[in-house]
Amino acid sequence: MRQVLNVSVKNYDIVITNDSLSTMMKELEDYTKNQKRLIVVSKKVYNLYKEEFNDLCNSDFFILNDGEKEKNIKNYLKILEKAQSINLTRSDVIIAIGGGVVGDIAGFAASTYMRGIDYIQVPTTLLAMVDSSVGGKTAIDMFNAKNIVGSFYQPKKVFININWLKTLDKRQFSSGLGEILKYAFIEDNCGYKHSLYLFEYLTLCADKLLSQEPMTLMRVIEYCLNLKISVVNQDEKEAGLRKILNFGHTFAHALEVLGKYKKYTHGEAVVQGIFFILNYAYAKNLITYSYYRLSQDLLTKYNFKSVSFKYSPSNIVEIMKKDKKANQTEITFIIPYDKKKVKEIKLSEVEVLNMFL
Ligand code: GLY
Repeated sequence: MRQVLNVSVKNYDIVITNDSLSTMMKELEDYTKNQKRLIVVSKKVYNLYKEEFNDLCNSDFFILNDGEKEKNIKNYLKILEKAQSINLTRSDVIIAIGGGVVGDIAGFAASTYMRGIDYIQVPTTLLAMVDSSVGGKTAIDMFNAKNIVGSFYQPKKVFININWLKTLDKRQFSSGLGEILKYAFIEDNCGYKHSLYLFEYLTLCADKLLSQEPMTLMRVIEYCLNLKISVVNQDEKEAGLRKILNFGHTFAHALEVLGKYKKYTHGEAVVQGIFFILNYAYAKNLITYSYYRLSQDLLTKYNFKSVSFKYSPSNIVEIMKKDKKANQTEITFIIPYDKKKVKEIKLSEVEVLNMFL
């Protein structure tokens, strides 16, 4: 099975397949046949798929250790150094093969090396497939703030192959489910006309998705990406609408920083952010009890539960103030106000502290 989606704002394709990985590698090689390739790849993926990588000739590899803490300035500089040492030119290409960390840092290196060279995203985690590989957000983490240095720089092409997921560990798969669930809560804002009723679909097909039934997986990935593409085409640089993709993320980024990027995966943190903001919306009478309950039930179906944290509200708020979406006096949240509908709110530091009461 093969689907091709297009991001019209920069006219690039996203291929979603369940072909064999070696078929996909051949396609990738063919697509970049006149270019020198610097492949930035996650260590785990490289070790698991050495044979498949042998098919890619005329390529150099930069192997990145796994984990968000690797998305740092040192590794960014090492990638640039490697690019220069192999004489990568403006007509060459960087290929990111791995999860969100690899895609973000390799994309940022591509966007700045020689003022920007081509890059291709080959996401190997569910989270990167449904979210980070598409839309052109590239970044590294610095100064206790996630993605604080980065660029909007769209890839040339995205190759998604669900066969990578066969070796993805359970926790990382679940992290991807967190981002998928996010789309269910923002569906009506996305302006995508062919509604699948994601909230209901995810409620009904939870068992199939959890067991990674291929057709369900592909359908959900394709649908989430259609929602994302619709948003990115309307607002590539996050001047307005695109902020909705940060649903659950204000709280999530603070948790990730406080957990030193080790304690929580991104998706786990996003789900806690969703619980947090649903509780607030319900307490403020923005959503009905029935929607609140349906939402809790949906999250529970995917084995998520709200957990309590040892971090003090003031610590959390301090980190939130460093978030890219915050201004001098206010912190931004994306909040549900109706079924599958969200809006942006800005709260003062005191108001945010009161959210924890
Ligand atoms: N992951 C959120 C965005 O791409 O805007």
